[in-house]
Amino acid sequence: MNLNKPYFIVFLLFAFIRLQAQERSNIPMVQELLDKMTLDEKIGQLNLLTPGGGVATGSVVSKDVEEKIKAGQVGGLFGVSGPNKVRVAQELAVNNTRLKIPLLFGSDVIHGYKTTFPIPLGISCSWDLELIEEAARIAAVEATADGINWNFSPMVDIARDPRWGRIAEGAGEDPYLGSAVAKAMVRGYQGADLSDPNTMLSCVKHFALYGASQAGRDYHTVDMGKIKMFNQYLPPYKAAVDAGVASVMSSFNDVDGIPATGNKWLLTDLLRDRWGFTGFVVSDYTSLNEMIPHGLGSLQDVSALSLKAGLDMDMVGEGFLSTLKKSVKEGRVMEEEITQACRRVLEAKHKLGLFDNPYRYLDSNRPKRDILTPEHRQFAREIAARSFVLLKNHNTILPIKKNAKVALVGPLADSRKNMLGTWAPTGNPDLAVTVIEGFKKVAPDAIISYAKGANITDDKELAKKVNVFGPRVVIDQRSPEVMIKEAVDATKSSDVVVAVVGEASEMSGESASRTDISIPESQKKLIRALVATGKPVALVLMSGRPLTIAEEYDLPVALLQVWHSGVEAGNAIADVVFGDYNPSGKLTTTWPRNVGQIPIYHSVKNTGRPNPKDRFEKFKSNYLDAPNSPLLPFGHGLSYTHFEYSNLAAEKSEISQNESITINVTVTNKGNFDGEEVVQLYLRDVIRSITPPVRQLKGFKKVFLKKGESQDITLTLKPADLKFYNGALEFVSEPGEFEVFVGTDSNCSLKTLFMLK
Ligand code: NOJ
Repeated sequence: MNLNKPYFIVFLLFAFIRLQAQERSNIPMVQELLDKMTLDEKIGQLNLLTPGGGVATGSVVSKDVEEKIKAGQVGGLFGVSGPNKVRVAQELAVNNTRLKIPLLFGSDVIHGYKTTFPIPLGISCSWDLELIEEAARIAAVEATADGINWNFSPMVDIARDPRWGRIAEGAGEDPYLGSAVAKAMVRGYQGADLSDPNTMLSCVKHFALYGASQAGRDYHTVDMGKIKMFNQYLPPYKAAVDAGVASVMSSFNDVDGIPATGNKWLLTDLLRDRWGFTGFVVSDYTSLNEMIPHGLGSLQDVSALSLKAGLDMDMVGEGFLSTLKKSVKEGRVMEEEITQACRRVLEAKHKLGLFDNPYRYLDSNRPKRDILTPEHRQFAREIAARSFVLLKNHNTILPIKKNAKVALVGPLADSRKNMLGTWAPTGNPDLAVTVIEGFKKVAPDAIISYAKGANITDDKELAKKVNVFGPRVVIDQRSPEVMIKEAVDATKSSDVVVAVVGEASEMSGESASRTDISIPESQKKLIRALVATGKPVALVLMSGRPLTIAEEYDLPVALLQVWHSGVEAGNAIADVVFGDYNPSGKLTTTWPRNVGQIPIYHSVKNTGRPNPKDRFEKFKSNYLDAPNSPLLPFGHGLSYTHFEYSNLAAEKSEISQNESITINVTVTNKGNFDGEEVVQLYLRDVIRSITPPVRQLKGFKKVFLKKGESQDITLTLKPADLKFYNGALEFVSEPGEFEVFVGTDSNCSLKTLFMLK
């Protein structure tokens, strides 16, 4: 090595000072504790276990949890809930360990705690940040009432591949919307004061890029350049950090050759040094151990690698617990590095006030008072209705009159177990309202005839895989033909047909990727038979992801996308179908025509051979067998009324750097219903130093307009909205022309411009 000696010594000195600084806590109480701790006690704090009470999301469940807690080998638990149970576990730690350090209690509260809200992808379609924050707040109130103080949410992975089952858990494809949702959720969970027993630590996940797994196969490799990473995929995680998120979960996937859990560039250089994150990082479920099959060495190797990379807590894998001491002895890891990780975990416990009172979240009166209250259920009903997206409404089939004769058919019309949606381990499917129950409640004068009509799928093997957490797909004894006939018979005396079709809840979610994302064939046959009756047909579509519905979209039907919408699903669906609530949801993912178009999203780049005509041309960037355009664009969503846009104008024709600009537009409700509209603003940076996307979402506002009403809407573009990460990864804006499009979806054509000096 050719080292310049004096410089090298200065460098070492700085490195030493930096480590010293990170190892010491600014909180005197935490520092005093650290000073007393043995190496074993510090390593114990880095260990997160689950006794298996919840839903295991890997093949391993922790063993001998009680003994390990008593031996000071556990820093936190997840999968334990209820004040009494949590108290037992907390007492084990506090009464048996030398330093009486309390445990953290984590959980996956993904879309509501016991009051289950729609899946996060559905919630994002409300584009309503206040509502989203309130959903997170209610989730925090309920979860903390049950003794939980750390939530593994929000999941903010940008997802542009609907084959990936976990697209259900996030806010869709867009970094601008995704960032706003991330902030709202962190605020909702953490509130203003983490020591308030109604608030909890939030954990943003899965850092990073988990949504970009190749071919939509879960846990698969991610391979992405830095420009795309910084501009498209990283912003929501950064937004959560900016909002003060207390913890970060590393993802399973590879990031530029090193899995996130052991990736120093990601966990330290970017997260801490560049973004200024000061909380703690936890691995995903055994993601540390999974670096062994990834090909990075033994458990001792990957544990040392991860600790040095900036991982503080090891979920379930016990790699830290079983190898770090040995690594210290062998000089592969410095004790200071362990102290630093321990400090971060202890500081989180301090923020929660657990050192003042380890039992502060354990009030046995709270569950009854705070969980599943009528107010929370009412909120669940409202947020569910706001998550629905009216994709199409042929001949204004919807809404239906409350005294109509309705044939209510389809395998999801009376299917309680599928209402909550994926990853609702804390919810109880038996409390969910089915569609048929909702119809009877909301429209007691309607005459409803019900028939199942089809199985969710006739494929027994698929059914087995989907039924891992209980019966979601129940294959009927009757033949498909008999079931379809029964449904067709039910239509005979009806004015209108409502078919509730789509995916079972566990057809999306973790380890639930699909290569074919169409409605299963059993249900397609049913839909064809229903349409053939000539009766007006409304399809109520349940799914955890965008589906390929080109065939159904071409039929003369109404299509209402309702996702899996939680404990109040049936009531909310009835509210919208019968017109008590006018749908206002807008897609937060682009819906492809077919799987071959994936990945598909609105902020694409132009290429050097663009084809805006959407008709095949030789030597242009297009397909022989399908247009480039999606079936449904990002931002799409109809209403029972319709809105017109006019008078789009930028407040100024030119602005300077660091100046904001307001964009004005008039929106008019031209139809016969009051309703809400999401006014969307897309920006095109016409020329810049790296190729720009054709347009990018940079603003939105949800407004309510009475029928006939006009409103002047103002949207503000801030300096940061014009910026992007350039070739040197600096966040800059560049002088030149910006085109602004405002309207009802990402295809909107009303346009104005301004110059940036
Ligand atoms: C694995 C999932 O990837 C993650 O989202 C979740 O928080 C953990 N399991 C714990 O349940």
